[in-house]
Amino acid sequence: MKYGRIVGWGKYAPPRVLTNFDLEKMVDTSDEWIVTRTGIRRRHIAGEGETTTTMSVAASRAALERADLKPEDLDLIILATTSPDYLLPAASSMVQDALGAKCGAFQLQAGCTGFVYGLATAQAFISTGLHKNILVIGAETISRNVDWKDRETCVLFGDGAGAVVVQACDEPTGVLSFVLGSDGSGAQHLKIGIGVHEVITPEAIVRGENLIHMNGREVFKFATRVMGQAALEAINQAGMSLSDIDLLIPHQANLRIIELAARHLNLPMDKVLVNIQEYGNTSTASIPIALVEAIEQGRVKEGDTLCLVGFGAGLTWAAAVLRWGVSERPFAMSSMFAPVAKVRDRAQVALRVAQTSAAMRVAVARHALQKSTSKAVEAVKSRASAALLPLYTRLDKRYTKDKRP
Ligand code: ACO
Repeated sequence: MKYGRIVGWGKYAPPRVLTNFDLEKMVDTSDEWIVTRTGIRRRHIAGEGETTTTMSVAASRAALERADLKPEDLDLIILATTSPDYLLPAASSMVQDALGAKCGAFQLQAGCTGFVYGLATAQAFISTGLHKNILVIGAETISRNVDWKDRETCVLFGDGAGAVVVQACDEPTGVLSFVLGSDGSGAQHLKIGIGVHEVITPEAIVRGENLIHMNGREVFKFATRVMGQAALEAINQAGMSLSDIDLLIPHQANLRIIELAARHLNLPMDKVLVNIQEYGNTSTASIPIALVEAIEQGRVKEGDTLCLVGFGAGLTWAAAVLRWGVSERPFAMSSMFAPVAKVRDRAQVALRVAQTSAAMRVAVARHALQKSTSKAVEAVKSRASAALLPLYTRLDKRYTKDKRP
């Protein structure tokens, strides 16, 4: 049997940020209320021209680059979202086109749980040997469906996207187990009422049917019941116990829900990824964004076991257990000294320099300077941290001196 290993990852958050203090000016709320009841401090809101498709493309490009794959290498694209650009066509096809991929693509809707459903679907395609490289995206522009006059919902949500490349491999790494659940009897608790049942009419819009309606308390009760349960089921299905879990990556809907789930599982909070303070609830994007942040923060190491768990509209829930099978790429000396094609690569080199020894800093930065045009040097400098600027100034002087006849 083949396993679906994550070999690439990327995220995108719109630059526009809405803080709790901004919200205080919009509705009858306070930073103190939002922080104590939800854990949220800021959220990112899509600006003009930013949509589920554009954010998916940005996150996917990063994931493909990390996986060292070209869009043509993809066999399938699965985009999980509850806020597609249009009812028709699916945003997944627009993402496929924008990436230049030549494969099938479909959109998946399972509320905020969608990304884990997508990962499970990718695993199913891979384990049967049908596909090798699958891009799974969770993306939302949910702010466009938020009622900015409803203080109970508008403080919760934010926009963003996360993407992973799942690749077939023979070793038991990647998705080891998953559990998918649904209970449509709770459908009315979290709803956007527009569709073929209630088509978009001026009257429907006046009634706010195009916006999110939520029974917060019911969703809260449901979430605290299913989160721990689903995680445990997936862990058991993988033939593991809780002590095998190195990191729990839960859907970021409410810090209190996450803490209750951790307590239910008897997991200390240092084994739980929390980034809700920065993004709020990005719905389907929340788990992949949290996963990417965990990797970027060095909280995921080769051989670690992760448990992803989510819940959402439907009502739905899902959990997956993953064994991390990719080591952080060593920053090889050869690549440091190889001529680099793009200014951005040089900037990355320069930033890496900051983490290496002083001698290496001098050598690498000097190399970057020598290989660069003056424009590239400026770009490298502007992207380097302020701490590095004196070093560049020194190197600049030295390099200019070396070049003198
Ligand atoms: N600012 C100030 N007061 C508020 C706010 C606000 N933003 N929102 C509600 N209140 C008030 C209420 O009106 C209520 O006042 P009252 O006592 O005078 O009636 C009081 O605060 C307490 O209200 P509760 O509903 O009991 O507050 P609770 O502690 O349950 O928190 C919340 C509300 C944050 C919405 C919580 O129920 C929750 O997080 N539920 C789950 C929501 C969720 O996860 N949704 C998404 C899931 S799926 C997906 O991700 C798409």
